[in-house]
Amino acid sequence: MLKIIESPDPILNQVCEPCIPGDKSLKKLAKQMEKAMYANDGVGIAAPQVGVLKRIIVIDVSPEDVRDPLVLVNPEILELSGDPEIEDEGCLSCPGISVPIERQPWARVGFYDLDGERWEVEGDGLLARCLQHEIDHLDGKTLFESASPRERIRALSAYEAAKRAGAKPGQTSIPEPKVR
Ligand code: NI
Repeated sequence: MLKIIESPDPILNQVCEPCIPGDKSLKKLAKQMEKAMYANDGVGIAAPQVGVLKRIIVIDVSPEDVRDPLVLVNPEILELSGDPEIEDEGCLSCPGISVPIERQPWARVGFYDLDGERWEVEGDGLLARCLQHEIDHLDGKTLFESASPRERIRALSAYEAAKRAGAKPGQTSIPEPKVR
């Protein structure tokens, strides 16, 4: 199982290199990313979160009892629309916190599948938010870089507290203190 890289590891702030569409080695990487995502209860994961600086993400925004992963190689935002909305986001690389992030509610994204075929995906809600969040990772942006300056300061101190409390990837709030 690949380990989730946690902030503030500088790997998370690197801009990732494009993949070669159809590159066979991406299939193994995508499987490993899927495993890490499900094992940590994520709805999305980007390659830098497992230490690989390549432009590939996996998302699964289907209901919890369904597994329907979508692998996007070289994903790029083609269009965003709608008035920006603020929603709390968590991230496997920033365990123990969730941060209000402003994003446009609808997105259209172009990508290649693992066979090198070109596709587009579009939608709103969690899908649009998740796509934007994961593509941010490929450009070296975590929750802290995507948040407003005010929320960023708040999030950094919440993250310090979460780390002290031993938060693990998949948790979006500080674990309850143990009752003795
Ligand atoms: Ni993330």
